[in-house]
Amino acid sequence: MSIAPLTPVLTALWDTQRSWKLDTYRSNGGYFGALLALKLAPIQVIAEVKASGLRGRGGAGFPTGVKWGFVPNTPETAGQPKYLVVNCDESEPGTCKDMPLLMANPHLVVEGAIIAAYAIGAHQVFIYIRGEVIHAVRRMQQAVAEAYQAGLLGAEPLGVPYPLHVTVHAGAGAYICGEETALLDSLEGRPGRPRSRPPFPAVAGLYGQPTLVNNAETIASLPAILVRGAAWHAQFGTEQSKGTTIYSVSGHVRFPGQFEAPFGITARTLLEFAGGIREGHKLKFFTPGGSSTPLFTEDQLDVPLSYEAVAEAGSQLGTKALQFFDETTSVLRTTRRWMEFYAAESCGKCSPCREGSQWLRQLVVRLEEGHGQPGDVELISDICNNVSGKTFCPLADGFVAMMTSAIRHFPSEFEAGYRRPASELFPYERSAVFPIPAPDAEPTPASRRVTRGEGVK
Ligand SMILES: Cc1cc2nc3c(=O)[nH]c(=O)nc-3n(C[C@H](O)[C@H](O)[C@H](O)COP(=O)(O)O)c2cc1C
Repeated sequence: MSIAPLTPVLTALWDTQRSWKLDTYRSNGGYFGALLALKLAPIQVIAEVKASGLRGRGGAGFPTGVKWGFVPNTPETAGQPKYLVVNCDESEPGTCKDMPLLMANPHLVVEGAIIAAYAIGAHQVFIYIRGEVIHAVRRMQQAVAEAYQAGLLGAEPLGVPYPLHVTVHAGAGAYICGEETALLDSLEGRPGRPRSRPPFPAVAGLYGQPTLVNNAETIASLPAILVRGAAWHAQFGTEQSKGTTIYSVSGHVRFPGQFEAPFGITARTLLEFAGGIREGHKLKFFTPGGSSTPLFTEDQLDVPLSYEAVAEAGSQLGTKALQFFDETTSVLRTTRRWMEFYAAESCGKCSPCREGSQWLRQLVVRLEEGHGQPGDVELISDICNNVSGKTFCPLADGFVAMMTSAIRHFPSEFEAGYRRPASELFPYERSAVFPIPAPDAEPTPASRRVTRGEGVK
C-alpha cells in the first residue's frame, strides 16, 4: 500500500488556465486513453479496468469492470442497442465532487465515456446532469460540441469506425433521479421513480435495452487507467479500495474544498489539509460519506477511508463527502435539516419511505423545538426498524442509517428535546458559518430562494 498524501490525477488540470477547453485538455495528453482503448478489443478494455480494481464512485463502490461484464456481449446480442448513462445528478447533502469535476475538466468525462461505451458495445451515451446546476450543463454541452467538431465523437471517433453519439440531458432537480433506475425513468420522460430489480439495468435498462450506468467520477477515472495501466492505478489505495479519489470536505473547517488522495487516507489527515476545525472549536461529529451514512465522532478520525475499513468501523464511505461539525452544533438541528431534505425528496413510491420519512421529520422537528414527548426517541428507533430494507431503493436506508447513528452517539441530546428547544442549548448563531441575517434584513437573492423551503430557519 502506498499512501502519498495528495495525488492529483482527476484534479491535475484544475488550476490550469481554461482547463475546460479542448485545446488545454489535448495539449496535456487528453484523448490518448480513448485512442488506446479504441485500438484494443472491447474485452481487453474490460479486463484492464477489472485489473485496475476501480470501484464505482457513485456511492456503493461496486467493482466497475465486473459491472461492465454484466452487459450482454454474445453474438446474439451484437445488433441490440445498448446504452451508457453517465450519472452526474449529484444531489446528496454534502456531496460536491462531480460538479467541480464537470466544470474544471468536462473532457475527462467525455473521454471516459468513449472508453466505457466502446467496452460494452454502446453507440449512444447520455450524460444526465442535475438540471439545477445550469452552468455545469452548459459547460458539458460545450465540451461535447467541441468534441464533435474535432472528430472525437460522431461517425468515426478519433478516426476509428465506431459510431458514437453523446447527448447531454438536464434533469429537473430531484435527488431520487440519481438512483440509477429512477434516472432511467426520468430519461424516458416519466417522473423519476426506482424500478423493481431484477431485471438490472445491465440487462434491461433504458428503453428496455442493456444499459450501463456509471458515476461521473468513475467514468473520469478511465483515461488514466488506459494510459498508465491497471498496475499503476492499483498501486494506490488499499487491498480492496484501489486508486485515488476526490474527497469533499465541508462544514466547520477552515478551508473546505475537494482533496484528491488515495483510498486509505484518514479523516484526520484530510482535516489537516482543510486547516483543521475552525479556530477555538473542537470536532463533535462528522459524516464519512455524505448525509446518508452513519455518523462518526473523534474516535473514528484514524479509520482509513477505504470501503472495507469504514464499513468495519460501522459506517459507509458512500460518496466520500466528509462534513465536519464542531461542538456548537445541535445534532437535533442537523438531523432535522437532513430529514426535511429526505422527506421532501422521497419519491413516494414505497409507503415505508414516503410515510416513514414524514413521521421521522415530524418527530425530530418537535424534539428540536423542545416539544418532544417521552417515548419519542424509542418511536424514532421503531419507525427506523420498520422502514429499513423494505423499499425498492436505498434512499430510506440512508436516512435510517443517519438517524439511528445520531441517536446512538447522542441519546441525551435527543432526550433533552422533551424539555428544552435545541436552540437554547446550542444557540444557532454560534454554529453558523456565515452570519445569520437579522429577521428584518433586506433579503438577498440567495436567501429569498432559501426561505421558500418549508421549515428552514
Ligand atoms: C437516492 C439515491 C441517489 C443517488 N444519487 C446518485 C448520484 O447523484 N450520482 C451517482 O453517480 N449515483 C447516485 N446514486 C447511486 C446510483 O444508483 C448508482 O449506484 C451509481 O450511479 C452507479 O455508478 P457507479 O457504479 O459508477 O458508482 C444514488 C442512489 C440513491 C439510492
